[in-house]
Order: sequence, then C-alpha cells, then structure tokens
Amino acid sequence: MKDKKLKDETILSYDNYKDQHGAVVPPLYQNSLFTFESWDHIDKAFDGKYENFIYSRLLNPTVKVAEDKIAAICGGEKAKLCASGIAAITSAILHCVNANDHIITIQNIYGPTNNFISKYLKEKFNITSTFIDGKDVKNFENAIQENTKLIYLESPASLTYELQDLKAISALAKSRSIKTVIDNTWASPVFQKPLKLGIDIEVHSVSKYLGGHSDVVAGVIVSKATILDSILGNEHELLGAKMAPFEGWLILRSLRTLMIRMKAHQENAMHVSQYLENHDKVKQVFYPGLESFPQYDLAQKQMTGSSGLLSFELQTKDIQKIKTFVDSLTFFKLGVSWGGHDSLVYAPVISYLKELSPEKFEAMGINASIIRISVGLENYQDLIGDLSDSLDLI
Ligand SMILES: Cc1ncc(COP(=O)(O)O)c(C=O)c1O
Repeated sequence: MKDKKLKDETILSYDNYKDQHGAVVPPLYQNSLFTFESWDHIDKAFDGKYENFIYSRLLNPTVKVAEDKIAAICGGEKAKLCASGIAAITSAILHCVNANDHIITIQNIYGPTNNFISKYLKEKFNITSTFIDGKDVKNFENAIQENTKLIYLESPASLTYELQDLKAISALAKSRSIKTVIDNTWASPVFQKPLKLGIDIEVHSVSKYLGGHSDVVAGVIVSKATILDSILGNEHELLGAKMAPFEGWLILRSLRTLMIRMKAHQENAMHVSQYLENHDKVKQVFYPGLESFPQYDLAQKQMTGSSGLLSFELQTKDIQKIKTFVDSLTFFKLGVSWGGHDSLVYAPVISYLKELSPEKFEAMGINASIIRISVGLENYQDLIGDLSDSLDLI
C-alpha cells in the first residue's frame, strides 16, 4: 500500500502525522518563528530555506499540510498557499514575464486580472498584451509575437464560461517556449487537472471551492518544484502575500469535504440550469454542464464535471424588472464571490462597469440582463422554488 498512488478522496481525508499525540486533526501551529538548539542547527536549516521551518512567512507546518494535499490532487510537485487568489495570480504572472514582454490572454478573465495585465503591467513595465477569443486555438497562434512569454488562461472563463482547449494550447506554447498559467478556480482540481494536460502553472482563488465555507480569503499556486521554488524565492518571499496559519488550518478542514461538496454543487447546478433553460423568461443559460452548451464536447473531454457557478440572461432588458428579480430572491443572497456552501446571486453590471471600460465589458459578451448565480448546498427544489417565485414577479 505504501508506494501506491492514492486517490484524491484518500489524499484529502487521511492524515498520519507522528507528532500529534494521535490527534485526528493536525494541530494549528500559530507561531511566527521557529527556534533552534544551536548555531549549527539554524545554519543547516538555511541550506534548505524553503523546506525547513524557520519563519512562517516562508513555511508553516499547518499550512504545509494543506499545500501538500493540494499539490497531490492537482498532480503538481509543489503548492504554495497565498493570502488571496489575486496574490497567487499576480505572483504567477510576474514569475513568467520581464519588462517589455508580451502576454496573450482571453477576453473573459476575472476583472482584476484583466486590469493587472492590461493596465498595471503596461504602465509599470511596458508589458503589452493581446486579449483574444479563446475558443479557437488558431487565435492564440496568430497572436504570438517575438516577445510573447506567457499565455494566461481561465477555462471555463468568467461569466460566460467559454473554454479553451488546454491540451492544444499547452502544446502550442511549449513548441514556442512560452509559459502557460491557468486560473482553475471554476472547475477546482476535482473536475479539471490542467497540469496533467501540459499547463505549467495552476492558480486558484481558494476563497471559492477549495475553502468552500465563505470564511477564508486565500489563493494557491501549483506547479513543478523548479517553478515553485523560483516563485518562493522571488514573488512570494519578496512581495510577502503569505497565508496565515489559522487560514491554513481552515483550508485543511475544507479539503476533507471537497470531493463530496463538488459533487453536490454539480448535482444542484444541473437541476437549476435545466430548470432555467426551460423557463420562458430566460433567454439563455451559460453552463458547461448542459448539453446545449456550445462547447459541451470539449467540456466532456477536458473536465470530469461541472461546478456550481452559472449565468443566465433574462429575456427582459427592463432594469427595474431585473432589480425586482434579484431583490426578491431569498435563498440566493446578493453578494460577490462564489463557491461556498451558500447560494448567491450577482448582477455583473453592478461592479464590472465600474472596474472595466464599457468596451471591455461588451467584449466579454455580457450585458445588464445577465445574472450570475452560485448554486450552493441547499436542497435544489428549494432553490428552484426561490427562482420560480422571483421570475413570476417580472
Ligand atoms: C475566477 C476568479 N479568479 C480569481 C479571483 C480572485 O480571488 P480572491 O478574491 O481570492 O483574491 C476571483 C474572485 O472572485 C475569481 O472569480
């Protein structure tokens, strides 16, 4: 049994740490630093600065237990938990590019990632970018320039959940010595394993499904050891967006139920999306789990399931009616973020037009009638009843 490759459920549930007095849950090491017996001991520890416990900004035993589990289920060699998803994203991107380089990405990436690439990196480091429709691999090929160093992906992408063909894009990138990063938050490592399809670096907002209880803001970077060690020595250590021990402990708690939570999110979202698809006040539903989804075949090929986040477009364009619909919901609480036990509703038009230019908003293929819901772990019949009551009002 010892050398056998364990399945994800076992990796996430099983702990066997010798120094915890038989406690079934690994302890919370709520300390900033570690002390040593002698000069020689601390001197030796610094020879493996990122493997030994010296200072909790670099490595903490509680956080490391969670990191090792996440790396294992993603099929990566190492993982680093960070203070937020956006810290993981910006660290991974900064690892891949230098001043005057070029990035290719897709139109529907998460808003702040869009701003980081298109504005921050351009203004500070003259890093240019091309935002393309990621559905066709040829668009990536056509956008490559001599100084392209990174292809940044988010599949399924934000709000409309369009996919990119991960295997084909990573093969193209490798043939041109371009690094690939993917935001894999939507599918989670349960339903999609990009590193196994050739992607170099996987990032997540752990605030969503990996955390799963709407009580942690966190992020994670997963990759092979050489890449992770470089990020540890540079972006992670120097920019300092580290994870607090207690957050690591909460994430460890969350990981134990990740597999069953994802299956329940998927089941509920399938019921809800099918209900919405057949409702005459709904124009269209964006959900890769539906057979009607335009890229359903690719979804089946590169993912093993679909999560609980979906969008739909109401038939009405009347903003008062759209507001009435959102405000009348009971179980879908109005708020940002997603991926927790609790169902949520959000109208992207509220904040996206404040964060992005109208042109970028339109390029994402969205409008004011598009509503996003995060389908939680409540009973799906109650959730459908809630949607039905609110749709009756408009
Ligand atoms: C797809 C996606 N990636 C990244 C993030 C950023 O994560 P965090 O809020 O943990 O910084 C979000 C947050 O909403 C997101 O939706």
